[in-house]
Amino acid sequence: MKILVVGGGGREHALCWALAPAATIYCAPGNPGTADLGTNIPLDPSDAEAVVDAATEHRVDLTVVGPEGPLAAGLVDRLTERGHRVFGPTQAAARLESSKAYAKEVMQACGIPTAESETFTDEAAALSYIAQHAEPLVVKASGLAAGKGAIVCENRRQAKTAVTEMFGGRFGDAGKEVIVEEYLEGEEISILALTDGEQATLLPASQDHKRLGEGDRGPNTGGMGAYSPVSLADRSLLDRVLREIVRPVLEHQAAAGAPYRGVLYAGIMVCDSGNPKALEFNCRFGDPEAQVVLPLLTDDPLEHMWRIATGEPWHPDATVETFPMAAVTTVLAAPGYPVEPIKGAGITLPAELPPNTILFHAGTSRDPAGVLRTAGGRVFAATGLGATVEAAGERSRELAGAIQFDHKVFRRDIGWREVARAGAA
Ligand code: AMP
Ligand code: GLY
Repeated sequence: MKILVVGGGGREHALCWALAPAATIYCAPGNPGTADLGTNIPLDPSDAEAVVDAATEHRVDLTVVGPEGPLAAGLVDRLTERGHRVFGPTQAAARLESSKAYAKEVMQACGIPTAESETFTDEAAALSYIAQHAEPLVVKASGLAAGKGAIVCENRRQAKTAVTEMFGGRFGDAGKEVIVEEYLEGEEISILALTDGEQATLLPASQDHKRLGEGDRGPNTGGMGAYSPVSLADRSLLDRVLREIVRPVLEHQAAAGAPYRGVLYAGIMVCDSGNPKALEFNCRFGDPEAQVVLPLLTDDPLEHMWRIATGEPWHPDATVETFPMAAVTTVLAAPGYPVEPIKGAGITLPAELPPNTILFHAGTSRDPAGVLRTAGGRVFAATGLGATVEAAGERSRELAGAIQFDHKVFRRDIGWREVARAGAA
Protein backbone atom coordinates (compact mmCIF):
# COMPACT_ATOMS: atom_id res chain seq x y z
CA MET A 1 0.00 0.00 0.00
CA LYS A 2 1.21 3.51 -0.84
CA ILE A 3 0.50 6.32 1.58
CA LEU A 4 0.98 10.04 1.12
CA VAL A 5 1.38 12.04 4.34
CA VAL A 6 0.82 15.78 3.81
CA GLY A 7 2.94 18.10 5.96
CA GLY A 8 6.53 18.38 7.08
CA GLY A 9 6.73 18.73 10.85
CA GLY A 10 7.36 16.46 13.80
CA ARG A 11 3.76 15.23 13.73
CA GLU A 12 4.12 14.17 10.11
CA HIS A 13 7.41 12.38 10.82
CA ALA A 14 5.62 10.50 13.62
CA LEU A 15 2.76 9.61 11.25
CA CYS A 16 5.22 8.33 8.62
CA TRP A 17 7.04 6.36 11.33
CA ALA A 18 3.77 4.78 12.54
CA LEU A 19 2.58 3.92 9.02
CA ALA A 20 5.92 2.86 7.47
CA PRO A 21 5.95 -0.74 8.75
CA ALA A 22 2.84 -1.54 6.70
CA ALA A 23 3.19 0.78 3.71
CA THR A 24 5.35 2.59 1.19
CA ILE A 25 5.62 6.17 2.38
CA TYR A 26 5.51 9.45 0.47
CA CYS A 27 5.61 12.70 2.41
CA ALA A 28 4.86 16.17 1.02
CA PRO A 29 6.94 18.15 1.59
CA GLY A 30 8.35 16.07 4.47
CA ASN A 31 11.69 16.70 6.19
CA PRO A 32 15.04 14.88 6.46
CA GLY A 33 13.48 12.48 8.99
CA THR A 34 10.66 11.40 6.68
CA ALA A 35 13.21 11.09 3.82
CA ASP A 36 14.74 8.20 5.76
CA LEU A 37 11.38 6.39 5.75
CA GLY A 38 10.27 6.98 2.17
CA THR A 39 10.17 9.58 -0.58
CA ASN A 40 9.75 13.30 0.03
CA ILE A 41 7.77 15.25 -2.55
CA PRO A 42 8.69 18.93 -2.49
CA LEU A 43 5.46 20.91 -2.69
CA ASP A 44 3.50 23.50 -0.75
CA PRO A 45 0.82 21.62 1.26
CA SER A 46 -1.53 24.58 0.88
CA ASP A 47 -1.43 24.08 -2.92
CA ALA A 48 -4.29 21.58 -3.25
CA GLU A 49 -3.75 21.08 -6.99
CA ALA A 50 -0.12 20.10 -6.38
CA VAL A 51 -1.15 17.60 -3.67
CA VAL A 52 -3.85 16.06 -5.90
CA ASP A 53 -1.33 15.77 -8.74
CA ALA A 54 1.21 14.08 -6.45
CA ALA A 55 -1.39 11.58 -5.21
CA THR A 56 -2.34 10.80 -8.81
CA GLU A 57 1.19 10.60 -10.14
CA HIS A 58 2.40 8.25 -7.40
CA ARG A 59 -0.88 6.26 -7.41
CA VAL A 60 -1.19 6.49 -3.66
CA ASP A 61 -3.87 4.37 -2.00
CA LEU A 62 -4.44 6.68 0.94
CA THR A 63 -3.59 10.30 1.75
CA VAL A 64 -3.28 11.41 5.38
CA VAL A 65 -3.38 15.18 5.97
CA GLY A 66 -1.36 16.41 8.96
CA PRO A 67 -1.79 20.19 9.42
CA GLU A 68 -4.94 22.23 9.96
CA GLY A 69 -4.31 24.83 7.22
CA PRO A 70 -4.86 22.50 4.25
CA LEU A 71 -7.80 20.80 6.02
CA ALA A 72 -9.50 24.15 6.66
CA ALA A 73 -8.86 25.11 3.03
CA GLY A 74 -10.66 22.00 1.74
CA LEU A 75 -7.81 19.70 0.69
CA VAL A 76 -9.82 16.60 1.64
CA ASP A 77 -12.71 17.76 -0.54
CA ARG A 78 -10.39 18.38 -3.51
CA LEU A 79 -8.76 14.94 -3.17
CA THR A 80 -12.10 13.16 -2.74
CA GLU A 81 -13.59 14.89 -5.80
CA ARG A 82 -10.72 13.49 -7.81
CA GLY A 83 -11.31 9.94 -6.57
CA HIS A 84 -8.61 9.72 -3.90
CA ARG A 85 -9.08 8.07 -0.52
CA VAL A 86 -8.26 10.44 2.31
CA PHE A 87 -8.00 10.29 6.08
CA GLY A 88 -9.09 13.68 7.40
CA PRO A 89 -12.20 15.86 7.73
CA THR A 90 -13.84 17.84 4.96
CA GLN A 91 -13.64 21.63 4.97
CA ALA A 92 -17.15 21.82 6.47
CA ALA A 93 -16.25 19.42 9.31
CA ALA A 94 -12.88 21.11 9.89
CA ARG A 95 -14.77 24.27 10.89
CA LEU A 96 -14.71 22.79 14.38
CA GLU A 97 -11.11 24.05 14.44
CA SER A 98 -11.08 26.82 11.84
CA SER A 99 -13.93 28.70 13.53
CA LYS A 100 -13.91 28.75 17.31
CA ALA A 101 -17.23 30.60 17.08
CA TYR A 102 -18.72 27.63 15.21
CA ALA A 103 -17.19 25.19 17.72
CA LYS A 104 -18.79 27.11 20.60
CA GLU A 105 -22.14 27.14 18.78
CA VAL A 106 -21.95 23.37 18.38
CA MET A 107 -20.97 22.89 22.03
CA GLN A 108 -23.85 25.07 23.18
CA ALA A 109 -26.35 23.39 20.84
CA CYS A 110 -25.37 19.94 22.14
CA GLY A 111 -25.11 20.86 25.79
CA ILE A 112 -21.42 19.93 25.87
CA PRO A 113 -19.77 21.08 29.09
CA THR A 114 -17.57 24.08 28.24
CA ALA A 115 -16.66 27.56 29.48
CA GLU A 116 -19.50 30.06 29.42
CA SER A 117 -18.87 32.43 26.51
CA GLU A 118 -20.23 34.83 23.95
CA THR A 119 -19.13 35.57 20.38
CA PHE A 120 -18.85 39.15 19.10
CA THR A 121 -18.43 40.85 15.75
CA ASP A 122 -18.67 44.26 17.39
CA GLU A 123 -16.02 45.73 19.68
CA ALA A 124 -18.36 47.83 21.84
CA ALA A 125 -20.58 44.82 22.61
CA ALA A 126 -17.53 42.74 23.58
CA LEU A 127 -16.24 45.51 25.87
CA SER A 128 -19.59 45.81 27.57
CA TYR A 129 -19.72 42.01 28.11
CA ILE A 130 -16.28 42.19 29.74
CA ALA A 131 -17.45 44.97 32.06
CA GLN A 132 -20.26 42.73 33.29
CA HIS A 133 -18.30 39.50 33.82
CA ALA A 134 -15.92 38.24 36.48
CA GLU A 135 -12.14 38.13 36.05
CA PRO A 136 -10.08 36.32 34.84
CA LEU A 137 -11.35 36.06 31.26
CA VAL A 138 -10.10 34.45 28.06
CA VAL A 139 -10.30 36.35 24.77
CA LYS A 140 -10.03 34.35 21.53
CA ALA A 141 -9.78 35.16 17.86
CA SER A 142 -12.24 32.84 16.14
CA GLY A 143 -10.11 31.92 13.12
CA LEU A 144 -6.86 29.98 12.73
CA ALA A 145 -3.99 31.82 14.43
CA ALA A 146 -1.24 29.19 14.69
CA GLY A 147 -2.12 28.46 18.32
CA LYS A 148 -1.62 32.09 19.36
CA GLY A 149 -5.19 33.35 19.14
CA ALA A 150 -6.29 32.64 22.73
CA ILE A 151 -5.26 35.21 25.34
CA VAL A 152 -5.71 34.45 29.01
CA CYS A 153 -6.40 37.79 30.73
CA GLU A 154 -5.99 38.14 34.47
CA ASN A 155 -8.20 41.20 34.62
CA ARG A 156 -10.78 43.20 32.66
CA ARG A 157 -8.24 45.77 31.56
CA GLN A 158 -6.14 43.10 29.82
CA ALA A 159 -9.27 41.57 28.33
CA LYS A 160 -10.34 44.93 26.92
CA THR A 161 -6.89 45.47 25.40
CA ALA A 162 -7.01 42.00 23.83
CA VAL A 163 -10.45 42.69 22.33
CA THR A 164 -9.36 46.07 20.97
CA GLU A 165 -6.23 44.57 19.44
CA MET A 166 -8.16 41.74 17.81
CA PHE A 167 -10.74 44.05 16.28
CA GLY A 168 -7.81 46.29 15.31
CA GLY A 169 -6.46 43.52 13.09
CA ARG A 170 -3.78 41.85 15.25
CA PHE A 171 -4.78 38.43 13.92
CA GLY A 172 -6.06 39.64 10.54
CA ASP A 173 -9.32 38.03 9.42
CA ALA A 174 -9.01 35.42 12.19
CA GLY A 175 -9.91 38.20 14.66
CA LYS A 176 -13.00 39.54 12.91
CA GLU A 177 -15.06 37.41 15.28
CA VAL A 178 -13.96 37.42 18.90
CA ILE A 179 -14.98 35.11 21.72
CA VAL A 180 -14.89 36.19 25.34
CA GLU A 181 -15.14 33.37 27.82
CA GLU A 182 -14.96 32.34 31.42
CA TYR A 183 -11.54 31.21 32.66
CA LEU A 184 -11.52 27.58 33.73
CA GLU A 185 -9.24 26.44 36.53
CA GLY A 186 -7.83 22.92 36.25
CA GLU A 187 -5.46 20.68 34.33
CA GLU A 188 -5.48 20.45 30.56
CA ILE A 189 -5.29 17.19 28.62
CA SER A 190 -5.46 16.31 24.93
CA ILE A 191 -7.79 13.55 23.79
CA LEU A 192 -7.51 12.27 20.24
CA ALA A 193 -10.44 10.27 18.83
CA LEU A 194 -10.30 8.31 15.58
CA THR A 195 -13.74 8.47 14.03
CA ASP A 196 -15.68 7.52 10.91
CA GLY A 197 -18.33 10.11 11.76
CA GLU A 198 -20.46 7.71 13.83
CA GLN A 199 -18.20 5.50 15.89
CA ALA A 200 -15.08 6.63 17.68
CA THR A 201 -12.13 5.11 19.49
CA LEU A 202 -9.91 7.10 21.83
CA LEU A 203 -6.13 7.13 21.65
CA PRO A 204 -4.32 7.33 25.00
CA ALA A 205 -4.63 10.73 26.69
CA SER A 206 -1.66 13.06 26.53
CA GLN A 207 -0.61 16.37 28.02
CA ASP A 208 1.08 19.14 26.08
CA HIS A 209 3.43 21.74 27.63
CA LYS A 210 2.61 24.95 25.83
CA ARG A 211 4.83 27.40 27.69
CA LEU A 212 8.41 27.96 26.60
CA GLY A 213 9.97 27.78 30.05
CA GLU A 214 10.31 25.17 32.78
CA GLY A 215 7.60 25.23 35.43
CA ASP A 216 5.16 26.32 32.67
CA ARG A 217 6.43 29.90 32.58
CA GLY A 218 7.12 32.22 29.67
CA PRO A 219 5.32 32.72 26.37
CA ASN A 220 2.98 30.22 24.72
CA THR A 221 4.42 28.06 21.96
CA GLY A 222 3.11 25.38 19.62
CA GLY A 223 4.12 22.89 22.35
CA MET A 224 7.50 22.23 24.01
CA GLY A 225 6.87 18.61 24.90
CA ALA A 226 4.22 16.07 25.83
CA TYR A 227 3.71 12.81 27.63
CA SER A 228 1.25 9.95 27.57
CA PRO A 229 -0.64 8.31 29.19
CA VAL A 230 -2.01 10.72 31.80
CA SER A 231 -3.16 9.00 35.00
CA LEU A 232 -5.66 11.81 35.65
CA ALA A 233 -7.48 10.59 32.52
CA ASP A 234 -8.54 7.27 33.96
CA ARG A 235 -11.09 4.97 32.40
CA SER A 236 -14.06 6.77 33.89
CA LEU A 237 -12.86 10.20 32.76
CA LEU A 238 -12.22 8.89 29.22
CA ASP A 239 -15.72 7.37 29.18
CA ARG A 240 -17.15 10.75 30.16
CA VAL A 241 -15.17 12.55 27.46
CA LEU A 242 -16.44 10.08 24.87
CA ARG A 243 -20.04 10.26 26.10
CA GLU A 244 -20.35 13.92 27.03
CA ILE A 245 -18.09 15.58 24.47
CA VAL A 246 -16.95 13.48 21.48
CA ARG A 247 -20.16 11.59 20.64
CA PRO A 248 -22.47 14.64 20.83
CA VAL A 249 -20.18 16.51 18.41
CA LEU A 250 -20.18 13.60 15.97
CA GLU A 251 -23.97 13.31 16.15
CA HIS A 252 -24.34 17.04 15.60
CA GLN A 253 -22.01 17.01 12.59
CA ALA A 254 -23.79 14.03 11.03
CA ALA A 255 -27.20 15.66 11.50
CA ALA A 256 -25.86 18.92 10.03
CA GLY A 257 -24.76 17.09 6.88
CA ALA A 258 -21.06 17.58 7.63
CA PRO A 259 -20.03 14.24 9.14
CA TYR A 260 -16.64 14.34 10.83
CA ARG A 261 -14.16 11.69 9.65
CA GLY A 262 -10.54 11.55 10.71
CA VAL A 263 -8.99 12.39 14.03
CA LEU A 264 -10.85 14.74 16.33
CA TYR A 265 -8.63 16.39 18.91
CA ALA A 266 -10.53 17.55 21.97
CA GLY A 267 -8.66 19.97 24.23
CA ILE A 268 -10.12 19.19 27.65
CA MET A 269 -9.88 21.04 30.93
CA VAL A 270 -10.23 18.63 33.82
CA CYS A 271 -11.69 21.18 36.20
CA ASP A 272 -10.79 21.24 39.87
CA SER A 273 -14.21 19.66 40.50
CA GLY A 274 -13.05 16.67 38.42
CA ASN A 275 -15.48 17.42 35.61
CA PRO A 276 -14.13 17.46 32.04
CA LYS A 277 -14.99 20.55 29.97
CA ALA A 278 -14.20 21.13 26.31
CA LEU A 279 -11.79 24.01 25.67
CA GLU A 280 -11.48 23.59 21.92
CA PHE A 281 -11.48 21.13 19.05
CA ASN A 282 -8.73 20.57 16.52
CA CYS A 283 -9.28 18.65 13.31
CA ARG A 284 -5.95 16.79 13.28
CA PHE A 285 -3.35 15.05 15.41
CA GLY A 286 -1.64 17.27 17.98
CA ASP A 287 1.98 18.26 17.56
CA PRO A 288 3.85 17.16 19.75
CA GLU A 289 1.07 14.88 21.09
CA ALA A 290 1.38 12.56 18.06
CA GLN A 291 5.05 12.00 18.94
CA VAL A 292 4.06 10.31 22.22
CA VAL A 293 0.69 8.79 21.38
CA LEU A 294 1.58 6.97 18.15
CA PRO A 295 4.60 5.08 19.61
CA LEU A 296 2.35 3.63 22.35
CA LEU A 297 -0.16 1.95 20.02
CA THR A 298 -0.11 -1.82 19.65
CA ASP A 299 -3.05 -1.58 17.23
CA ASP A 300 -1.89 -0.79 13.71
CA PRO A 301 -3.16 2.77 13.16
CA LEU A 302 -3.30 2.13 9.41
CA GLU A 303 -6.04 -0.46 9.91
CA HIS A 304 -8.24 2.17 11.58
CA MET A 305 -7.34 4.95 9.15
CA TRP A 306 -8.00 2.77 6.13
CA ARG A 307 -11.44 1.68 7.32
CA ILE A 308 -12.36 5.25 8.24
CA ALA A 309 -11.20 6.56 4.86
CA THR A 310 -12.85 3.82 2.77
CA GLY A 311 -16.02 3.22 4.78
CA GLU A 312 -15.18 -0.50 5.12
CA PRO A 313 -16.80 -2.10 8.18
CA TRP A 314 -15.16 -0.82 11.36
CA HIS A 315 -15.93 -2.04 14.87
CA PRO A 316 -13.56 -0.22 17.18
CA ASP A 317 -13.38 -0.59 20.94
CA ALA A 318 -13.91 2.54 23.05
CA THR A 319 -10.12 2.90 23.36
CA VAL A 320 -7.27 1.53 21.22
CA GLU A 321 -4.83 -1.08 22.48
CA THR A 322 -1.55 0.29 23.79
CA PHE A 323 1.72 -0.99 25.24
CA PRO A 324 1.78 -0.80 29.05
CA MET A 325 4.41 1.91 28.86
CA ALA A 326 4.78 5.66 28.98
CA ALA A 327 6.21 8.04 26.40
CA VAL A 328 7.68 11.51 26.86
CA THR A 329 8.78 13.82 24.07
CA THR A 330 11.02 16.84 24.56
CA VAL A 331 10.95 19.46 21.84
CA LEU A 332 14.29 21.01 20.86
CA ALA A 333 13.66 24.54 19.65
CA ALA A 334 15.83 27.07 17.88
CA PRO A 335 17.00 30.11 19.90
CA GLY A 336 14.51 32.97 19.52
CA TYR A 337 11.50 30.60 19.29
CA PRO A 338 8.56 31.34 19.40
CA VAL A 339 9.06 34.98 18.36
CA GLU A 340 11.86 34.90 15.81
CA PRO A 341 13.70 31.59 15.64
CA ILE A 342 17.26 31.77 14.33
CA LYS A 343 17.63 29.18 11.57
CA GLY A 344 20.48 27.71 9.58
CA ALA A 345 22.68 26.35 12.41
CA GLY A 346 24.58 23.12 11.72
CA ILE A 347 23.29 20.06 13.64
CA THR A 348 25.32 17.14 14.98
CA LEU A 349 23.43 13.97 15.82
CA PRO A 350 24.82 11.21 18.04
CA ALA A 351 26.29 8.25 16.11
CA GLU A 352 23.77 6.01 17.82
CA LEU A 353 20.51 6.94 19.55
CA PRO A 354 20.18 5.96 23.22
CA PRO A 355 18.05 2.82 23.76
CA ASN A 356 14.26 3.24 23.81
CA THR A 357 14.31 6.58 22.07
CA ILE A 358 12.93 7.84 18.75
CA LEU A 359 14.12 11.07 17.16
CA PHE A 360 11.44 12.90 15.20
CA HIS A 361 12.57 15.69 12.90
CA ALA A 362 10.50 18.87 12.64
CA GLY A 363 12.22 22.07 11.41
CA THR A 364 15.35 20.53 9.90
CA SER A 365 16.69 20.59 6.35
CA ARG A 366 19.76 19.45 4.44
CA ASP A 367 21.87 22.05 2.68
CA PRO A 368 23.26 21.34 -0.81
CA ALA A 369 26.33 19.73 0.79
CA GLY A 370 24.10 17.34 2.73
CA VAL A 371 24.71 19.01 6.10
CA LEU A 372 21.74 18.88 8.48
CA ARG A 373 20.66 22.38 9.55
CA THR A 374 17.96 23.98 11.69
CA ALA A 375 15.12 25.26 9.51
CA GLY A 376 12.23 26.09 11.83
CA GLY A 377 11.21 27.07 15.35
CA ARG A 378 10.68 23.56 16.64
CA VAL A 379 13.61 21.54 15.32
CA PHE A 380 13.20 18.03 16.80
CA ALA A 381 10.97 16.08 19.13
CA ALA A 382 13.06 13.64 21.17
CA THR A 383 10.80 10.80 22.35
CA GLY A 384 11.73 8.41 25.14
CA LEU A 385 9.86 5.28 26.21
CA GLY A 386 9.90 3.69 29.65
CA ALA A 387 7.89 1.90 32.29
CA THR A 388 6.84 5.21 33.86
CA VAL A 389 6.64 8.84 32.77
CA GLU A 390 9.67 9.53 34.96
CA ALA A 391 11.75 6.81 33.25
CA ALA A 392 10.55 7.81 29.78
CA GLY A 393 11.38 11.43 30.60
CA GLU A 394 14.96 10.50 31.48
CA ARG A 395 15.37 8.76 28.12
CA SER A 396 13.86 11.70 26.31
CA ARG A 397 16.23 14.16 28.01
CA GLU A 398 19.19 11.87 27.36
CA LEU A 399 18.40 12.02 23.64
CA ALA A 400 17.70 15.77 23.74
CA GLY A 401 21.07 16.33 25.43
CA ALA A 402 22.91 14.27 22.79
CA ILE A 403 21.75 16.45 19.88
CA GLN A 404 23.93 19.44 19.20
CA PHE A 405 23.22 22.78 17.60
CA ASP A 406 24.03 26.31 18.71
CA HIS A 407 21.93 27.61 21.60
CA LYS A 408 19.37 24.81 21.43
CA VAL A 409 16.41 25.40 23.74
CA PHE A 410 14.57 22.64 25.58
CA ARG A 411 12.68 22.05 28.80
CA ARG A 412 14.00 19.50 31.25
CA ASP A 413 10.71 19.08 33.08
CA ILE A 414 8.33 17.56 30.53
CA GLY A 415 5.89 15.33 32.40
CA TRP A 416 6.40 17.09 35.75
CA ARG A 417 2.73 16.99 36.74
CA GLU A 418 2.61 13.22 36.27
CA VAL A 419 5.88 12.73 38.14
CA ALA A 420 4.49 14.82 41.01
CA ARG A 421 1.26 12.77 41.02
CA ALA A 422 3.23 9.51 41.09
CA GLY A 423 5.33 10.89 43.97
CA ALA A 424 2.22 11.89 45.93
CA ALA A 425 0.47 8.53 45.44
P1 AMP B 1 -7.46 27.27 22.60
O1 AMP B 1 -6.76 27.71 21.35
O2 AMP B 1 -8.89 27.60 22.67
O3 AMP B 1 -7.15 25.86 22.99
O4 AMP B 1 -6.68 28.03 23.75
C1 AMP B 1 -5.28 27.95 23.87
C2 AMP B 1 -4.91 27.75 25.31
O5 AMP B 1 -5.47 28.81 26.11
C3 AMP B 1 -5.49 26.49 25.91
O6 AMP B 1 -4.67 25.39 25.63
C4 AMP B 1 -5.53 26.83 27.38
O7 AMP B 1 -4.26 26.70 27.97
C5 AMP B 1 -5.90 28.29 27.36
N1 AMP B 1 -7.36 28.43 27.48
C6 AMP B 1 -8.25 28.54 26.47
N2 AMP B 1 -9.50 28.69 26.95
C7 AMP B 1 -9.41 28.67 28.29
C8 AMP B 1 -10.35 28.79 29.35
N3 AMP B 1 -11.65 28.98 29.12
N4 AMP B 1 -9.90 28.73 30.61
C9 AMP B 1 -8.57 28.56 30.86
N5 AMP B 1 -7.64 28.47 29.91
C10 AMP B 1 -8.03 28.50 28.64
N1 GLY C 1 0.04 20.78 20.70
C1 GLY C 1 -1.15 21.49 20.45
C2 GLY C 1 -1.67 21.35 19.10
O1 GLY C 1 -1.25 20.53 18.31
O2 GLY C 1 -2.60 22.07 18.77
